[in-house]
Amino acid sequence: MAEKTARAAEKTSARGVQRCILPNCGATFGLSERIYVCARCGGPLEIEVRGGGPSGTAVRAAQEGPALRRKWEARWGSRETRDGSGVWRYRELLPFEDSAAVVTMQEGNTPVYDAPRSAEYCGLLNLRLKHQGCNPTGSFKDTGMTTAITQALLLGARTAVCASTGNTAASLAAYAARAGLQAAVLVPRGQISAAKLAQSMDYGAAICEVDGNFDDCMRLIQELGDDPSIYVANSINPFRIEGQKTAAFELAEQCGWRLPDHVVVPGGNMGNSSAFAKGFDELLALGLIEGLPKLHIIQAEGAAPLARLFAGLDKGAPGDKLHLPEKLQPVERPETFATAIKIGAPVSWRKALRGVLRSHGQIISVSELEIADAKAMIGRDGIGCEPASATTVAGMRKLVAAGHIRREESVVGVLTGHVLKDPDYVSRYHGGTLFEGATGAFRNAPERVAASKAAILESLERRRQ
Ligand code: F0G
Repeated sequence: MAEKTARAAEKTSARGVQRCILPNCGATFGLSERIYVCARCGGPLEIEVRGGGPSGTAVRAAQEGPALRRKWEARWGSRETRDGSGVWRYRELLPFEDSAAVVTMQEGNTPVYDAPRSAEYCGLLNLRLKHQGCNPTGSFKDTGMTTAITQALLLGARTAVCASTGNTAASLAAYAARAGLQAAVLVPRGQISAAKLAQSMDYGAAICEVDGNFDDCMRLIQELGDDPSIYVANSINPFRIEGQKTAAFELAEQCGWRLPDHVVVPGGNMGNSSAFAKGFDELLALGLIEGLPKLHIIQAEGAAPLARLFAGLDKGAPGDKLHLPEKLQPVERPETFATAIKIGAPVSWRKALRGVLRSHGQIISVSELEIADAKAMIGRDGIGCEPASATTVAGMRKLVAAGHIRREESVVGVLTGHVLKDPDYVSRYHGGTLFEGATGAFRNAPERVAASKAAILESLERRRQ
């Protein structure tokens, strides 16, 4: 049995290693080791995928890029299950054997929309929004959950667990159900949207409502990770990031392999931004893109530890060696109506910061009113998203005003969750009860109308003005 396990580990490791990202450590571990942080120093882990050639060790080289690109493009429209997934279509860059039984719900494949009204609102000539809310459970989390739950099955876990502000929980619940695993989700009691909680209930997860905030749930998860029955599916787990990085590949493909000048993402626990950064890095190493787009992260003002750190950071000159700070000062009591990103101690802050600094992007915060108005503006483009996603457009507006993004440059914002994820927020904004003493600029409350044709036409005429 032990010999069989050892051989399995050796075989899995042919696809790559887990590596500690801290420069003074850099320890490596096999892919089948169930660890979430470096077993030597406790630092964050990242997966380095290797080529599947005969020796199994050939690191992918730039000359491979064009061949991979042709392979990926040929997969569009194929009936093969993995080809139909916007994640597994890029499986050459994922740390799994070709024979792995994948748990997929055809995630990814999310649209990129023009957003002319939002563009004008930001002071841009054009703006596109990649809507990852169009995933099976309504958020970008599915692209990482497909790989995390596939790995959980490979490792023989019984229960997949996460701490969540709602979306990771819903995604984990769904994918664990598909895989026949128990799902357990830790959520801060009374602090997540009812719609997200409803999803987890429906998908059959064991829901633990914790008296505390998300950061308390995350601390508990790190303790639970020691138990052999448990598999931690938060983005601290590098297998999640592997799935999520494919959004960068898909975006590049959708842009004809010419990425925009700027990519703007919301920041919470910092898994998404870390994943985009990794994806862009890999495309650059393969010669599939000519340079890195500037990656910008936007946080909500009341939950912005990384924006605060960034503001006080000596960024050095372009080309300088990066010096990442040792510590992030957490926000003890994070506050925002954008509950998805109500996080004071993001676990993946180092990876995210490294990605932003490498690409010469920015990390800033936006106010509650800025988020709410930007969200309504995205809605006016007929797109819609949940509050956390709207930090992108709110942030772009500020970045344009500050001269970090020029009017004529190309920009893609990443919308992370569906508008129906938090209908209560939408009703309160448009009903005028979201803020005390302030009203959203794009308020659109329903109007009570008498049951007559004349009354309806009169109401419409008034609202045309
Ligand atoms: N947008 C949405 C809709 C989210 O649900 C999250 C995170 C983020 C943005 C931030 O992404 O954490 O990768 O920086 N939601 C997590 C959850 C924390 O539990 O659902 P991040």
